[in-house]
Amino acid sequence: MITDIEVREACFPKEVKVVRIPEQKVFDGIPFPLVLNPADDFIHKDADFWNEWIKENVAGIEKILLKYGAILFRNFPLDKPQHFDEFSKAFGYKEFPYVGGMAVRTYIVGNVWTANEAPLGTPVPFHHEMAHVRDYPLVLFFYCDVAAKEGGETPMLLSNVVYRRMAELQPELVDRLEKGALRYVRVAPAENDFTSQIGRSWKSTFLTDDREEAENKARSAGYDIEWQEDGSMKTITHPLPPIRLDKRTGKKMWFNTSIGAISAWTDSRNHHTQAVVFADGTPVPIESLAVLEKVVEEAGVAVKWQRTDVVMLDNRAVQHARADHFVPPRRILASLFTDHQGVLSFLE
Ligand code: FE2
Repeated sequence: MITDIEVREACFPKEVKVVRIPEQKVFDGIPFPLVLNPADDFIHKDADFWNEWIKENVAGIEKILLKYGAILFRNFPLDKPQHFDEFSKAFGYKEFPYVGGMAVRTYIVGNVWTANEAPLGTPVPFHHEMAHVRDYPLVLFFYCDVAAKEGGETPMLLSNVVYRRMAELQPELVDRLEKGALRYVRVAPAENDFTSQIGRSWKSTFLTDDREEAENKARSAGYDIEWQEDGSMKTITHPLPPIRLDKRTGKKMWFNTSIGAISAWTDSRNHHTQAVVFADGTPVPIESLAVLEKVVEEAGVAVKWQRTDVVMLDNRAVQHARADHFVPPRRILASLFTDHQGVLSFLE
């Protein structure tokens, strides 16, 4: 018997084939994430072939991305970060500079940076990339340069699944979130603090050592700021809607960083209970966190990385995280992009 999924997947470009992996989960009849391999007749093609293939198939791939939320390209000939850079750029999107993000990252090549370099054992909870600021990337690519011997996955989840489940379990909170806004509070140090997952300095964040320039950039990026006595900068985002409608699909997204902030924004300068507040300044109730954590655990999918894997992720629809545990070395790279002419421009 042919299933609905197989009928839909039969429409894919002939150069790729859909494969199943044990970690996938199925939501509303659709596997997540989608996993693509080169089709048998195309297994020996080189990186240049695939870059051209992407250019010719952008619209089709975007439709697939819109439906599935995330695509794992596995067994493509992308042996080094340079290949990853060219592969992700082949879509023709606008590069998104990593200004305003909180994680400490290292520049690699082209538009490629290391993903969060928070130390081993530091959890990076589920989040939409930069959901705590006004301007955020629309498409993310991750690349596995070095797979950890154990652990170190980049779990993903469909944000709409989280929204729907939270609306069932915590209707009052969700009602308040739908009508209101959240502000995120963080104190950024003057110098990078590699011991913290939110340790990116204000100098690195705003690419200047000059306080006045940093302050101007922060304000124009949508932050209120307060300088601290030790030279660190307290940033408070303008109120941001925590639940957002994806106009492409009509689905509501759990588009906020409350779980990340409430569970993990603690270091020598920050305390997690003060990290997320409603527009009137009252903190988001910490009790809701336990429910939310269970929901994201059920919805999350952690795929074991294989070297040269690329994940393309729709940052409006899908959240990602980093597994707490891994056996180093592990090197996952990231490339962030924003607006373009394709399917993502239907939004907002
Ligand atoms: Fe992230």
